[in-house]
This record gives sequence, C-alpha cells and structure tokens, in this order.
Amino acid sequence: MRKRHNLEPRMERCKDYLVTDPAARKGTWRQPGTGLWLEIGCGKGSFTCAVAEAKPDCSLVAIEKVPDAMILAMERASRAGLKNVCFLDYDAAGLREIFEPGELDGIYINFCDPWPKSRDAKFRLTAPAFLRIYADLLPVGGEIRFKTDNGPLFEWSVEQFLQEGWTLRELTRDLHAGGVTGILTDYERRFLGEGVPIKRLVAVRGENTLDHRAGEPPRLRNAALADARANQKEKQE
Ligand SMILES: C[S@@+](CC[C@H](N)C(=O)[O-])C[C@H]1O[C@@H](n2cnc3c(N)ncnc32)[C@H](O)[C@@H]1O
Repeated sequence: MRKRHNLEPRMERCKDYLVTDPAARKGTWRQPGTGLWLEIGCGKGSFTCAVAEAKPDCSLVAIEKVPDAMILAMERASRAGLKNVCFLDYDAAGLREIFEPGELDGIYINFCDPWPKSRDAKFRLTAPAFLRIYADLLPVGGEIRFKTDNGPLFEWSVEQFLQEGWTLRELTRDLHAGGVTGILTDYERRFLGEGVPIKRLVAVRGENTLDHRAGEPPRLRNAALADARANQKEKQE
C-alpha cells in the first residue's frame, strides 16, 4: 500500500469517524433498535460506505490494519455524510477485546489476503482460530458473508467452516454469472473487470459451532508443527 501524504492531518479531519479507544465501547456498540455488523479489512471502503448507505437501520464497524488504506474509506464516509459507520485501525486477532460475546449480528470478510503458503495458513482470516473468535462474537443464527476471487482460499475456507460446525448457505463459485449482483468492493470491481469469477458464501453460526471455549483445534497444532518442521528444513537447505 502506497504511503499517503499528510496521513495525520487527514485522519484528524475525519476524526469523527475514527474510534481510538474501541475497548471502551465493548458491549455498547449497538444503537438501540438497530443491527450491528462488522467488516474486517475494509481497505479503501467503497463497499463499507455503500452498505452503510443501503442499510440506514444498521451500524457498521469497519476495521483495517493499514491506515493508509483506511483513510480513503474514512474520507469517503465523510464526503457522503454517513452517520452509521465508524472505523478502527485494528487487527482482527484482537476482536474479543472490543466486542462482547454475541454482540454482533454479522461479519463481512471481503477479498482477504490469501496467504498461499501452507505455513502461513494461520494468518488467513478464515483460519480455525479466527473462526472461533467470530463464533464468540456472533449469536446463534449470526452470519459471516465471505467473498473472494481466490479459488484455493475459497475451497480451503469451505472446509474450515464445515469442520468448525458452521452451516453454509448461498454458496457460489461465480457470483456474477447472471449479471452483477450485490454491492461490489474495490477489489471485486477490479477482478470483475479482469473476468475473474467471484466466489461467495454465507456461513451461519449454529448451537454446535466451535468457539474459543472448545480449545485449540488439533489441526491447528498439527499445522503449527508442520510449519516448524518446514522452517527448520528451509534453514538446513
Ligand atoms: C485484499 S484487501 C481487500 C480490501 C477490501 N475488503 C476490498 O475487497 O476491496 C484485504 C484488506 O484486509 C486487511 N487485513 C488483512 N488482515 C487483517 C487483519 N488481521 N485485521 C484487519 N485488517 C486486515 C488488509 O490490510 C487489506 O486492506
């Protein structure tokens, strides 16, 4: 991501949209009588702002760990005068610090980084450890809406969701086959222009979906062991 000029003064101008002490809001994010959705990795935020505009009865919390991208999303929200969206310079790994169990209605994950090497699988936002965090934050019936251009990541993610006890709905490997559908993200618009089929699913949290209380999944331990071995082998070569 290119370094943005004047990031600090630009952040300052959009400060009404930036939450700097998210842990203080734990348990109080929801406006009475409205829905509460989280977007992880909002990037430049055209999806974020379009969703906020389309759903005035919902509040949207958008997190992004690269402020140089997020500033564009914040400026977009400010230009549109949106009242139901806020932004956090935050990593998804810490979500349990800022939301109470069951506090969210749903989560958007769009075009997350694929981390193609198997030793990096734990960084994928659909890795079991992340799915367990999301399961903590959603009530039974709460949804994750996931889109990607990346076939291997999609197939791997389907497997993780199923193994972790999520129910999958609306699964498609070519979302726009019958014409452009739904609100596009910045990345999605680019991939669509290149003719790359977009994969999408909705994962629904059930009674038996695994959350962090289920402990570390054996697969993750095995993956960590495999990573350690691969690293060791690389060092030896
Ligand atoms: C490929 S971009 C997609 C951006 C946007 N969702 C879109 O579809 O246009 C992925 C974004 O997720 C952010 N991201 C990746 N891992 C994250 C994490 N653990 N927590 C918060 N943001 C993350 C990256 O910084 C990046 O901006």
